Amino acid sequence: MTVRTEHEADAEPASLVSFIDLNPETEDFLEAVLNGLSCDQKELPCKFFYDERGSRLFDQICDLEEYYPTRTEIGILQDRLGEIAELIGRGAHLVELGSGASVKIRTLLNALPDLAQYTAVDISKEFLLKSAETLAKDYPDLDVAAVCADYTSEFRVPAPRRQDARNVAFFPGSTIGNFSPDEAEIFLRGILETLGTGSGLLIGVDLKKDPSVLHAAYNDAAGLTTEFNLNLLTRVNRELGANFDLSAFTHNAVYLEDEGRIEMHLVSSVAQTVSVGGKSFKFSVGEYINTEISCKYRVDEFRDLCRRAGYVPVASWTDSDSLFSVHYFTAD
Ligand code: AVJ
Repeated sequence: MTVRTEHEADAEPASLVSFIDLNPETEDFLEAVLNGLSCDQKELPCKFFYDERGSRLFDQICDLEEYYPTRTEIGILQDRLGEIAELIGRGAHLVELGSGASVKIRTLLNALPDLAQYTAVDISKEFLLKSAETLAKDYPDLDVAAVCADYTSEFRVPAPRRQDARNVAFFPGSTIGNFSPDEAEIFLRGILETLGTGSGLLIGVDLKKDPSVLHAAYNDAAGLTTEFNLNLLTRVNRELGANFDLSAFTHNAVYLEDEGRIEMHLVSSVAQTVSVGGKSFKFSVGEYINTEISCKYRVDEFRDLCRRAGYVPVASWTDSDSLFSVHYFTAD
């Protein structure tokens, strides 16, 4: 295994992983919170959910009976592994956007014995390096690279030794749902520009469905989603010295059928004033902070969105209950 690092000085000793640190500008948390709370409709960016406790809570949500997306997506990947491997083809360079649950990537890697390289792109350096190192150990014949970058802004990926390898992006989990449809189109066009013509895109997308199923998935009986949502206020209190009273906010997730999206809210149960970074924010009874959107698509809607972004739909798969979809696109 060749060890290649861009910054030898930063290299971990005896690393099996080729590491590039693009030093993602970690956006000023305080500034983002102050901006969000100053909007007419108060909001907080969902990317701040994932501190240590938030990441742990999200993992637990993925195991909930009500939260169907994770196990359903894994089921589709397993059922369609042969077709997926054939479409990705031999000698490809697989680029995972966000290095999340390793069961998904391992499912793919097991069916793709001839990859030119696997590259994980993630903003969280420690988590990224740890999971890439573990993969490299478990797949000794695979070239593994890790890029610490914010994949929602500009990034690049290191070329595999086989320089003619086709890039294939893997973007699972319906993370694309956190963008509005217009934002998603812009984002996917950017991925195409980064990975080049001829590249592929394997993407998991949550489907529109019976609102009661969606409602249960985002308002679970065990209250994990409540904890996950409220943890954002805990984080703001801890990291920014704010004084949110957690007992004065309740979690509520609503499905807006016309927009085709879940919104997660933190609802103020009393009239109150909260101070963050020396600024005061007033809440009336029932006023809420929007903490996340999670857009849902029909198969044809998502294929149309991707066409507008410059992709050609190649295959779309769903589970037998039509809960979740996995798509393969090419950028010709
Ligand atoms: C990680 C954005 C796909 O929208 O379903 C789960 C996050 N929020 N429960 C989703 C989430 C509440 C999740 N994504």
